[in-house]
Amino acid sequence: MSKTFICFGFSCYNEFSKQKREKSMINYFEKIANDKSIVERYEKIHEYEVTHGGHAHHDFNHVLNVATYCEKILKSLKFDDEFICEAKIAALLHDTGALQWKENHAQRSFEFAKKYFDENNIKLANKNLVLEAIKNHSEGFDTDNIIQLVLILADKIDLKKSRVSDAGKHVEGMRQCQYINDIQFEIEIGNFEINFVCDEKLNLEELNNYYFTKKVFKAIQAFSDKLSLTPKVCINNSPWQEFYNSTK
Ligand SMILES: [Fe+2]
Ligand SMILES: [Fe+2]
Repeated sequence: MSKTFICFGFSCYNEFSKQKREKSMINYFEKIANDKSIVERYEKIHEYEVTHGGHAHHDFNHVLNVATYCEKILKSLKFDDEFICEAKIAALLHDTGALQWKENHAQRSFEFAKKYFDENNIKLANKNLVLEAIKNHSEGFDTDNIIQLVLILADKIDLKKSRVSDAGKHVEGMRQCQYINDIQFEIEIGNFEINFVCDEKLNLEELNNYYFTKKVFKAIQAFSDKLSLTPKVCINNSPWQEFYNSTK
């Protein structure tokens, strides 16, 4: 009787402390997303990219998109709320280093996030995974860190028209992204379906030859391999043949 009672009490305690941790994690995400200094930092990045002819935006709209994609993907795969929130926090902070231009911005984002967590007393259960993901979000495809893989994937697939700056509309390859209206995805019974909803003005050949498209495919494949998923990549609901050619 007393053993049952103790076990019951312990599991209640565990559940209570898990719920408490998840709640504080959600609070951390909300706190960072509403932190004026973070919002203003991304506004400055947007302005800098507009005035200096950056091709793609690394602004607040982009990092919110990335956080939303991370949440949707990890929820479909039944990760717990605490882990999902940590991935969303990584998404929020992953481009803070783009303030001093794109070159080496992942390293600067990592340094910014590390300092930000310390200064704001933000304690994450997987802080090292979050920081590692931010640091390696540009090219770190080969990893067991799921936060890193989902961040890379969510970041790379955010190719929507909202990413393209006015200067980017004149750059071969990049300019095709202005015709990507939406990215839909679903994970079900081992299948990872991604559909890029595009305008009829899209020049698919040019998009296929764009160097960044290869990175998008690589991110989809790396994530799918690690999570044992079968990727199905479409453009306007028809198979995107270039994906299958590139991953043969
Ligand atoms: Fe980035
Ligand atoms: Fe990004």
